[in-house]
Amino acid sequence: MVYVQNQHLEAEEALEMLRALSEEKMERHSDIQAAEMAKQLVKMESQKRRLLELQAKLGKQKMTNNVSYRRYSTEDVEEATNGFSDALKIGEGGYGPVYKAVLDYTFVAIKLMKSGITQGLKQFQQEVEVLSSMRHPNMVILLGACPDYGCLVYEYMENGTLEDRLFCKDNTPPLSWRARFRIAAEIGTGLLFLHSAKPEPLVHRDLKPANILLDRHFTSKISDVGLARLVPPCGANSVSDYHITAAAGTFCYIDPEYQQTGMLGVKSDLYSFGVVLLQIITAMPAMGLGHRVETAIENNKLSEVLDPKVSDWPEEETLELAKLALQCCEMRKKDRPDLASVLLPALKRLREFAREDHEPIQDITSQISQCDEPDPLAPVPSSQVSFLEKWI
Ligand SMILES: Nc1ncnc2c1ncn2[C@@H]1O[C@H](COP(=O)(O)OP(=O)(O)OP(=O)(O)O)[C@@H](O)[C@H]1O
Ligand SMILES: [Mg+2]
Repeated sequence: MVYVQNQHLEAEEALEMLRALSEEKMERHSDIQAAEMAKQLVKMESQKRRLLELQAKLGKQKMTNNVSYRRYSTEDVEEATNGFSDALKIGEGGYGPVYKAVLDYTFVAIKLMKSGITQGLKQFQQEVEVLSSMRHPNMVILLGACPDYGCLVYEYMENGTLEDRLFCKDNTPPLSWRARFRIAAEIGTGLLFLHSAKPEPLVHRDLKPANILLDRHFTSKISDVGLARLVPPCGANSVSDYHITAAAGTFCYIDPEYQQTGMLGVKSDLYSFGVVLLQIITAMPAMGLGHRVETAIENNKLSEVLDPKVSDWPEEETLELAKLALQCCEMRKKDRPDLASVLLPALKRLREFAREDHEPIQDITSQISQCDEPDPLAPVPSSQVSFLEKWI
C-alpha cells in the first residue's frame, strides 16, 4: 500500500514537471517536441489512472481481508466442536451455548451466539477486532472468532466460574478467605483496565460471579467483556429472547440508577462489583444481599452472614471488605467509591494482608498469580501443587 502511494506521488510530480516543460516548449513553437510531450502526457495520465484504480482495489481488499483477529472458518469450528456436539457443551447463557474444544492445539471455549443476536457482520468484525486486541492478566482472552457462524473463541478456564466455586458445584472445595481476598483485588484490577480503555472507557455491563472465571491456578479473570456491545439496543424483536434471559439472570447486579435513568457509566459496573464482593464473603444469592449484610453489620453480627464454609475469617479485614462492598452498592452513582483512587488501593491492601502470615512459599503464589500468559497446556509443576491446594 505504501509502495503504491509513493508511486502515485512520483507519478504526480513527474506529471507536473512534464506539464511545465511542455508549456515552455510550446512557447518556443517547437511543434515536434510539443507533440512528443503531449504523447508522454497521455501516457502518464493513463498510468496515473491505473495507479488510482489499484489503490482503490487494495483499499477494498483491506476492508474485507485484513481484519486483525484470528479468524476461524466454519470447518475449523465444526470439526473442533464435533458438529456442536452436546457432549462438548459446557454451559449455556443468555447469548447461546458454550463448547469446550481444541483449536490450534489449545483448549478453548467456543461461544455460539444465538442466531440473529449480533448486529450485522461489519459491526461484529469491528467489535471482535477491538476486543481481541485488549489483553490483561485479569481478563479472559478473546482468541478469535468465526464470523460466518457468529462464534467467539475464548481461552479455556479450567476452574470454571467464581459462582460455581463459591457454591461448591460438583463438590469442589470451598475457596479460602485468602483466595477470596486475592480474587477481589484481581477483579478490581481487571475492571480498572477496562475502565481505562481509550478513547472511551469500556463498561462491562454484566459483571457477576458467573462472568468471573478461574484458570488452572485459580487466578480470576473477567469474561464476556464487551459482549453487550455485539448486541443491538433493546427493542429489536430478534433479540427479545436475549434481553429476557439476561434481565432475569442478571437483575440483582444492575445499577439501580442506570435502570431508572438509562445513564450507563463506569460506576454502573461498581454497583455490580459491590454485589459480587458481598457474594465473595457470604456465598449467598444476590437477591436482597446488600440489605442483609448492612443489617448484620448494624447489629454487630457480620459473622452470622459470612460463608460458614470458611472457619477463619479475619474479623477486622472482612468487615472492611464488607463495608467497601456496601459503598459500591449505594443507590446513587456519586455515592459509590472511585475505583482507581479508593476501592482498588483498599482491595490491594487486603490482598497483601491475605498474603502475610507468611511462609516463604508465598513467593511462589505471587509469581503464579501475576503470570501474564501461562501456557494453557503446560502441567502445573508438582512443587507448586501442594502449595496451591493450601492457597485455594
Ligand atoms: N472461557 C471459558 N472457559 C471455561 N468455561 C467457560 C468459558 N466461558 C464460559 N464457560 C462456561 O459456560 C457457561 C456459560 O457461559 P455464558 O457466558 O454463556 O453464560 P453466563 O455467564 O451464565 O451468562 P451470560 O450469558 O449473562 O454471560 C459458564 O457458566 C461456564 O461454565
Ligand atoms: Mg458469561
